[in-house]
Amino acid sequence: MSAVIKSNSCRGNSDTFVQPRSLMKSIKLDECELNGKFKLLGYIGSGSYGVVYSALDVVTREIVVIKKITNIFDTVNNARRVLREVKVLRMLSSHVNIVGFKRILPPLDPNNFDSLCLVFEYVDTDLYKLIHSNQYFTNLHIQFFVYQMLCAVNYIHSAGIIHRDLKPANVLVNANCSLKLCDFGLARSVINSTQSSDNQVLELPKAPLQCRTLSKHVVTRWYRAPELILLTNHYTTAVDMWSVGCILAELLSMQAESNCRPVDRHPLFPGTSCFPFSADEPSAYSDKFDQLNIIFNVIGTPSKEAILSVDNASSQSYLEALKPQKGIDWFKRYPGADPKAVDLLSKLLCFDPRKRITAAEALEHSYLKQMRNETRFQMYKSADSSDLDWEQESLTKDQLKLLICKELLTDNPMSKPQANKDECKLGESTQLLHTSFWTNCSNSNSCNSSDS
Ligand SMILES: Nc1ncnc2c1ncn2[C@@H]1O[C@H](COP(=O)(O)OP(=O)(O)O)[C@@H](O)[C@H]1O
Ligand SMILES: [Mg+2]
Repeated sequence: MSAVIKSNSCRGNSDTFVQPRSLMKSIKLDECELNGKFKLLGYIGSGSYGVVYSALDVVTREIVVIKKITNIFDTVNNARRVLREVKVLRMLSSHVNIVGFKRILPPLDPNNFDSLCLVFEYVDTDLYKLIHSNQYFTNLHIQFFVYQMLCAVNYIHSAGIIHRDLKPANVLVNANCSLKLCDFGLARSVINSTQSSDNQVLELPKAPLQCRTLSKHVVTRWYRAPELILLTNHYTTAVDMWSVGCILAELLSMQAESNCRPVDRHPLFPGTSCFPFSADEPSAYSDKFDQLNIIFNVIGTPSKEAILSVDNASSQSYLEALKPQKGIDWFKRYPGADPKAVDLLSKLLCFDPRKRITAAEALEHSYLKQMRNETRFQMYKSADSSDLDWEQESLTKDQLKLLICKELLTDNPMSKPQANKDECKLGESTQLLHTSFWTNCSNSNSCNSSDS
């Protein structure tokens, strides 16, 4: 496909990034944190956990992206998130539709650090920025983006991992229309649990309380599947498929035929609260802007059979009490949408996660027939899940710090090769890192240089 996306300049595009992340934006990345190996080019954006800049690798002259994650040891959850992101990226980032992860930079003071810089391949923009630009998409664009997204999701699911935060801002796109998923901070391994042949009914590890707490935080509200909102005991890879459906709907609104001006584009389900999580607002469920009400206004209320499949008694009673309503006519919402796209959309936005289409099935859908390409359609090969086994354990901050230091050592090998990193205690790890840092980064005094 020709280069038809108007990309952002690699020198930063903060003016086009309108997500309110005031706290994150105040966090700065200083060139001295880049060991003299990179030159900062510009601010790209920020999410919930990181601030992202473009930078030039002074040796290879390659433009890269540096994501600085701060306050990593403030809470156990923050430390887990960083470790998870790095481990999952190492497992998956060789797929053409997953952002390329290069390395972790050594911190300035390896004995006392609370932020980390991750280096990625540079991608021109993301779908959030495109949706909020004046760009229009053709059906071919949408087919190609959805196809690539599904290839990535299928690959992630085949590795026994749920992304759990798919949304336009986490879908990166290049000017040549190649697409890469990013942001694996909320990803979750389900490899050790019941796995069916089609990957659809993976269950979370048997830790119901933990699942309950976690589910509250996963998936940005507008892209959150109903089973997550309804606190069902097990959720599956199907939660990602729901998010893909929400993204597909936003892509359809970008077709000129949809008669939707760029300023009027918005998420399909823009709820303002999320029963039953809105504990500060106990009557939120009756609010017409509540996430579930917004969803049912569009897809219709669930059938009796679907309600019975919900494994949570209070959620069942809530659903039974709803006034039945039919879903909208998708062609009225998206006139000009390819009927096959609408068919796929309705299969992605199926209330019952057991009946929702899987990534592998979606890739076979007739809407994507023209797109099939075996090089993208890959299954994850390694059966080795040991990299994510730590997720099953409840680790202290110090234990997590040790694991994070081991990740740092992987990218910043020591000058003393006889050291066995598996046997490193925390102090030794950081000491070795320190040595490695000064040995490998000859230009490390760039903080003092006048042009930094
Ligand atoms: N490799 C990349 N190339 C270009 N932009 C990126 C890249 N990685 C992230 N971004 C931009 O930075 C934003 C935040 O990055 P992300 O990894 O999602 O962090 P967070 O965990 O804070 O949400 C993304 O929404 C995207 O706009
Ligand atoms: Mg993000």
